Amino acid sequence: MENILITGGAGYIGSHTAVALLEAGYQPIIIDDFSNSEKSALEGLKKITGQDIACYEGDCNDAALMERIFTENKLSGVIHFAAFKAVGESSMLPLKYYHNNISSLVVLLETMNKHNVENLVFSSSCTVYGQPDKLPVKESTPRKKAESPYGNTKKICEDILVDQVNSKVALSAIALRYFNPIGAHTSSEIGELPLGVPSNLVPFVTQTGVGIREELTVFGDDYDTPDGTCVRDYIHVMDLAEAHVKAISHLKEKKAPFYDIFNVGTGNGNTVMDVIKAFEKVSGKPLNYKIGPRRPGDVVKVWADTAKINDELNWKARFNLEEALRDSWNWQLALSKKQ
Ligand code: WQD
Repeated sequence: MENILITGGAGYIGSHTAVALLEAGYQPIIIDDFSNSEKSALEGLKKITGQDIACYEGDCNDAALMERIFTENKLSGVIHFAAFKAVGESSMLPLKYYHNNISSLVVLLETMNKHNVENLVFSSSCTVYGQPDKLPVKESTPRKKAESPYGNTKKICEDILVDQVNSKVALSAIALRYFNPIGAHTSSEIGELPLGVPSNLVPFVTQTGVGIREELTVFGDDYDTPDGTCVRDYIHVMDLAEAHVKAISHLKEKKAPFYDIFNVGTGNGNTVMDVIKAFEKVSGKPLNYKIGPRRPGDVVKVWADTAKINDELNWKARFNLEEALRDSWNWQLALSKKQ
């Protein structure tokens, strides 16, 4: 079995990708500092896969630890998720984000180069597009000034990959620009574990559904959209995980140096109200919400043109919005039972 290192592999998208890699015949190895994940995710992975997936506890910025991992394991590739991702927090603590998100990629690339590990899939984000002028947004759409230091770290990391590939070192890299990841594994053994009050819509909706939160505030309903609320491309995390497996397999067919970018979305846009209605349908209960003021920095509408990933990676999202919300809700109910 070919070993694939997953940085941040105990996290929301990382853990789902570990399952998808195993199902595709790869052997995942995790490094995670558990700053935004819990060890319970490893137990969930064991319940789903029957395997104790090797996990190194630590920070990708720790060059000695990374050297140890690459020495102890023959790696075919790396999927790099480990990064801070809270948009709001990044504006308050920019240096925390620049240090962690950028230095960890630099240390990873240095270690990969030293150990002749050529294949890297990087977790990027549609946030690099800002508010696109034309929709659906294509990979060729010029990136805009990021709305947050978090978004800027994603742009800078993409540029670092381009420069490293252009330096003719043996690197083949793919940046996957995620749209809005939601949902949970259909087993309800792993899912999103937001720290504190969720800033993202769907975990706030499900926590309101179980009574952890009193009421959802919809951040504005006076936008130029079908129902006045913002439009996003909500993609099931299991679909997103599959895209990473396809990307790793694609890289194995490419000769270094190689770099490419793919949008990972459903190709459909849904409003906040669409999410609320779909949640009420799958949960069978009304959601307590009110309309509040707009959230500064929010993009009004964005959804993906997915032709490139459909054609070149032979990947297409399988789950729809309701199925993703069903799985988010089942996961929330499973969490409530554990508490
Ligand atoms: C979605 C919509 C809100 C909460 C960000 C990052 C992106 C990725 C996902 C990391 C918006 C509305 C939200 C609430 C609301 N992050 N909303 N009430 O901002 O599209 O994307 O998170 O990987 O990179 O940019 O996601 O879920 O925060 O918001 O009305 O309590 O829901 O206004 O329209 P966003 P989100």
